[in-house]
Parts: sequence; C-alpha cells; structure tokens
Amino acid sequence: PVIVVDFGAQYAQLIARRVREAKVYSEIVPHTFTVEQMLAKDPAAIILSGGPSSVYAAGAPFVDPKLFEAGVPVMGICYGFQAMAQALGGEVAQTGLSEYGGTEVEVCSSGMLLADTPEHQTAWMSHGDAVHKAPVGFEVLATSDGSPVAAFEDTHRRLFGVQWHPEVRHSAHGQQVLEHFLYEGAGLAPDWTPGNVIADQVANIKAQIGSARVICALSGGVDSAVAAALVQRAVGDQLTCVHVDHGLMRAGEVEQIENDFVASTGVKLIIRDEKERFLTALAGVSDPETKRKIIGREFIRVFEDAQREIIEEAGEHGEEVKFLVQGTLYPDVVESGGGEGAANIKSHHNVGGLPDDLDFSLVEPLRTLFKDEVRAVGRELGVPEEIVSRQPFPGPGLGIRIVGEITAERLEILRRADAIAREELTKAGLDNEIWQCPVVLLADVRSVGVQGDGRTYGHPIVLRPVSSEDAMTADWTRLPYDVLSTISTRITNEVREVNRVVLDVTSKPPGTIEWE
Ligand code: XMP
Repeated sequence: PVIVVDFGAQYAQLIARRVREAKVYSEIVPHTFTVEQMLAKDPAAIILSGGPSSVYAAGAPFVDPKLFEAGVPVMGICYGFQAMAQALGGEVAQTGLSEYGGTEVEVCSSGMLLADTPEHQTAWMSHGDAVHKAPVGFEVLATSDGSPVAAFEDTHRRLFGVQWHPEVRHSAHGQQVLEHFLYEGAGLAPDWTPGNVIADQVANIKAQIGSARVICALSGGVDSAVAAALVQRAVGDQLTCVHVDHGLMRAGEVEQIENDFVASTGVKLIIRDEKERFLTALAGVSDPETKRKIIGREFIRVFEDAQREIIEEAGEHGEEVKFLVQGTLYPDVVESGGGEGAANIKSHHNVGGLPDDLDFSLVEPLRTLFKDEVRAVGRELGVPEEIVSRQPFPGPGLGIRIVGEITAERLEILRRADAIAREELTKAGLDNEIWQCPVVLLADVRSVGVQGDGRTYGHPIVLRPVSSEDAMTADWTRLPYDVLSTISTRITNEVREVNRVVLDVTSKPPGTIEWE
C-alpha cells in the first residue's frame, strides 16, 4: 500500500481518499509508528500528512531520518513537508507571515512533481512556520510570499514535498500533484479498481469462512447490502441474511430489499415482520433516548431469535454457523484506533447495535473501504442503484424522526412526506449534492392554517438537507428555492395532516443531523 502517516489533523483521511481516487490503494498509520513498523507494511510509497504542530515545539511529532534511507519514495505535505526538511538538514522557521486559505504560489521549476501545472497557481495553505532552506540535494520548485521554499524534490532519492494541501479541492492542481508523486515519483500503476477489490475480497472471504455458515443482518442501508453481496459472491448459499422489519423504514425500502436486492444478488433472505412488536414496545414513549434503547433492545431480541432458528436448521445438516457479516467501513476502523494505536476518537457500533457478546467471528469485507468505494463495489456487483445510492439512514429509522410518540398513523404521515421530498430531490438532480436529508415530523406541535375555505390545525414537517464529508460535521445545504417550493406545495397538498413545511438552517455543530 501507499502509507499515509497521520500527524494528527483532519487531513490524513482526505489524503488517503485522494490517493485511492488515483486508483492506488492507501492505508493510514499513526505517526507514533516506528520506521520498522511502517516498513513492515511493505509500503510502495509514504505520504507524511499535515498536522497542527510546529516542528520545533517541544514534543512535536518527529520524523526519524531513517525513513528517508529505506529507498521508499516519500512525499511530505504541510507539516510533513517541514518535518521532512528538518530531518534532512534543511531550515524551518517562522516567517512572521502565516498563510491560511487560497494562496498564490509561484512555480520556479516544475520538476517531476509540478509538471504541466501553471507558473502561477492557487494552493490551499494552512501554516505559520515555513521552510527557509531546502536540504542538500533538493531542488526548490515553488515559492510563495510566506514560504521561501513552498515545494521541493530530490528525484534521485525519490523524496518530494509541498507546503500546501494538494488533497484539498481548493488547491487548483492538487490531484495532479499527488498523481505525479504516485505515478512518476513512485512508479505506481492505477490498478486499484472495484473489480480488483472484489476479486481480492472474494478470495479473503473464502479463505476465512471455508465451508462454515455465515449470517448477516441486512438493514437496508448501503453498507450491509454491499457486504452481504460480496459474501454471497464468495460463498453463495452458506450465507443467510436476516432483515428485521421494524416498521420504521421509509416507503418502498423493504420491498426493494425483498425484491430487487434478492433478485440481483441471489442472496438467501429471511424477513421478520415485527411491526406490531415494535409499535407495542414503543407505545406511549416520547423521550428520544428511551425510544433508541427500546428499538435497539427489540432489534437484538428479534435478531437472536432468527439466529437461533438458522443455527438449529443448519445443525440438522451438520453445519456450523460461525460467522457474522458486518458492514464496518474504513473511517470507523481509523476512528476507533484501527487496532494500531491511533487516538480513540469514538467507538462505533454497527448494524443497529448488535450485542458484543455474540459468539461469532466477524466477517468485515468493507473494512478497507471508504463510502464512495463501497458504492462503486456495489454497482460492480449489480446491487440495485436505488440501494447503492441510498443516503445514510439511521438504524432506528423514522422512529427518531418523529418528535413525540411513535404511532402507526404518524409513521404513515411521515412516510408520505418523506417520499415526496426524496422524489423531488432526485428529480432535481440534487442527490449527489446532499449528504442526506432527514424529513422530520413534529408530531406534538400543531399550528393554524387555512386550506380552501377552512381553518386547519395540522403538524409541521421539517426538511433537514445537509452537506457533509463524514457526518461528524455538516452544513445545511442551500437548496434551490423552486425545489423547496415544489416540495412544500406537494407535501401540504398531498398529506392532509401537514399544513406547514419548514427548513432547518442549522449547521452541525451545534445541531446534530437527526433531530433526536
Ligand atoms: P447525528 O444526528 O448524530 O447523525 O448528527 C450523524 C449520522 O449518523 C446517523 N445516525 C445513526 N445511524 N444508528 C445509525 O446507524 C443510529 O442510531 C444513528 N443516529 C444517527 C445519522 O443519520 C447521520 O448520518
């Protein structure tokens, strides 16, 4: 792999994704890794990421000069660039001129790294220190007002660096610079493609599972669907999927899994219709945390029942059920420490919170993938587009989008309003601009309206369109007024109980994406 060394800012994941966009496989490791640990991964190239420190601050992450003697091509970015300059005997100091945001860079010699990019270009910067003198053997490629040395390379030793952030879209030629490093600098080929990912994973899954049986909780979301399709491709009928229909799904979703997904993948699927059970358990409850707990608890009970039946049935044929498929993604792995000593930002629970004392080995075929790659793999496997392009949807479903008690009637109101919003957003071609758009029913709120000649006293619907890279932070999406207007008109006309549509214009933080 190409190894991205994380110096502690938000940038490492973005770099890893851009490398993969260049069709080269990448992995993130913490900067606390020793050179030996890095080399043990047999890296084809190494990228040192940006970070919040100053290289000469006490306790600043340090780059072992041995790294540059291993013969592996290295590229330093921002902090990584400065740490590299310092480790190799260059000079790093404060210029008194910090550069933040779009910055004009002047190319003095394009070299290998900046080949075919313009003499003047805009690059995204974020630094206070700067490299004043390049180490011996390096050619200076660019400068800016605040960076006497803004880029350098030593093509003999295959060492490269830029002060700016090529991984950020605001750097006009960023992707090109990264690709020059990967293709020419490190001599790598663009062969990380969905087809190859599938071939690799199918081989891994076969080796892991052998002839045992495996089960998967299919939520209806992209991740569990693609994970199941991959396992099905590898071991066919050894896989049984269970979908717990808790009645909190959106319009058409269960049918999509039941018909289209099964038809296109051949997955063996058991659907447990548990709508009544969930409604009964949730009756009279309006506290958000209590609702979440009840939904999680009932989900586990139903899944355990299904599991027991599958195990008994398999046992009759002398087979063992030993594996459970989970749709864990790479960002979850990185953020939960990746088992490699990175900071534990948060621990994740997947698949609607399955218990952690299950007596199963996990099969996690998406552990190395980012969301957009999961979608590409899903398409290649023939998973229906309606599922592959589905926006994130919380495990507790519409249950946490009804503010107030959950009833069958309220679910139906929300389902109709949500279907209209989704239909119009898709029709307007906005699906790719929106991360997700929760539609929320304020079931306990009523307001006065007028329709025809009569007074109405109905409920508001909230539209919550957000843009985000990873759901950790988000901004509200500036939807075109005419689309908002169409959605509002249609919802108030077609859903009798709703007489008002409002737009949530809060970023995250302070607002979460979901309302509960
Ligand atoms: P919040 O509301 O915390 O949501 O800003 C962040 C992202 O997580 C999703 N979400 C959930 N997903 N189970 C899930 O599988 C949950 O309980 C849950 N709660 C929130 C939410 O839709 C958004 O994408």
